[in-house]
Amino acid sequence: MSRVFLVIIMLGCNVAVQGVQGFDEVHVRLGNAEGARCWGRVEVYQRLQWGTVCSRDWDLRDAAVVCRELDCGFAFATRSGAQLGRFSGEVWWRNVKCSGDEFTLDLCERSPNDGVCSHNEDAGVECTGKLPVPTLSMQTTFSSYSAGEAVLFTCAAPYWRHPIDFHLYKSGVDTPLVTQRAEPRQTRVELTLSELDTSHQGSYSCLYRVQSNPGNSPSSNTINITVLEIHTPQIWYNASPVVQPGWVSLGQSFNVTCFTQPHYPGGTFQLRLIRPSGTVRHSLPAHGALGTFSFASAQASSEGYYCCLYRVQFGGRTFVSRESQPLAISVRGAEPLLSPVVISLLVSGLTFVIATCGILLVARAYCRRAKKPRELERETRTCVDNTYIALTTK
Ligand SMILES: *[C@@H]1O[C@H](CO)[C@@H](O)[C@H](O)[C@H]1NC(C)=O
Ligand SMILES: *[C@@H]1O[C@H](CO)[C@@H](O)[C@H](O)[C@H]1NC(C)=O
Repeated sequence: MSRVFLVIIMLGCNVAVQGVQGFDEVHVRLGNAEGARCWGRVEVYQRLQWGTVCSRDWDLRDAAVVCRELDCGFAFATRSGAQLGRFSGEVWWRNVKCSGDEFTLDLCERSPNDGVCSHNEDAGVECTGKLPVPTLSMQTTFSSYSAGEAVLFTCAAPYWRHPIDFHLYKSGVDTPLVTQRAEPRQTRVELTLSELDTSHQGSYSCLYRVQSNPGNSPSSNTINITVLEIHTPQIWYNASPVVQPGWVSLGQSFNVTCFTQPHYPGGTFQLRLIRPSGTVRHSLPAHGALGTFSFASAQASSEGYYCCLYRVQFGGRTFVSRESQPLAISVRGAEPLLSPVVISLLVSGLTFVIATCGILLVARAYCRRAKKPRELERETRTCVDNTYIALTTK
């Protein structure tokens, strides 16, 4: 008994739902004598019957919604539906008030006509027709950039009678990143994304809006860009045992390590050794963020300043970091410290220092006499600097 009752309830529900769906369905079409799809009298289907809309309060925003709903592009104009031939049937709505952003006319505020308007006031619209898709392109052939650079996009649209605003969108972001108005008759604009950082990495598209026509054009093709951050590497060295910071012993093995973060696939490190007898370069594929240059045996020729740089190829471009701070490595010799050669060097060095100091004092006295105090200061410093450089190269 109860089972039969349940079945009856279910059947009832089913019938009721179907009935409501059919009765509440609302469609829109544009009626005209030529059977054109994108202009004409606005005709609304509801309660299983076609009717019209009264043109009181009917404006471009309302028309824009109709055009969008019918996939007919933007609204160019409102028209009088009454001039497009007689219509027999109801006038369904009046005082339609769309914001312009609705997807269907049915979603707009309105009042039932209730016999207020006749068919003499039927509303009509003229839409642009299906909108052409804009084209997004880049002015470069590559799609990888390093942080801080700028990307120049170009967005192109067909010609319109009205000014066009072009917008550059990044996928996943609701608001346009760049907006640019085209001059009259201009059909393409440059959209520049400057000061790139890694948050700009992603997929881009553009669209346009024609002034005084609510709504967007369809989105263009998409272009992906990659943004790399290339930082100056860090440098350090290991030797065991460490004699003294900045030193290795003659014959000792040591490693110079370069480090950079973030790092990218295919990156390499270059190590440059600057020494009095010339520059030596080594290079090595990066192992993640690290590159370790191993030296089996320290020699006098290992002495000098070591610098790292990081290099990576990405998207058809080569990115090179700045060079690291120089790392000074000296090699402690195994020969006796006070050999005759060293003593004679020391003596001549000492003589040189004393002589230089003497010259310096004389020069300083001269400077003090000859120059005004401000210039004197600079002059003395230059003298000292020169002396310092001379001494260190000796
Ligand atoms: C852009 O990247 C997305 C994934 O992030 C990918 O699905 C899409 O195919 C790429 N588009 C182009 C044009 O390379
Ligand atoms: C240098 O690096 C190699 C491997 O890269 C390692 O086996 C060796 O112990 C390191 N030497 C020093 C002195 O750290």
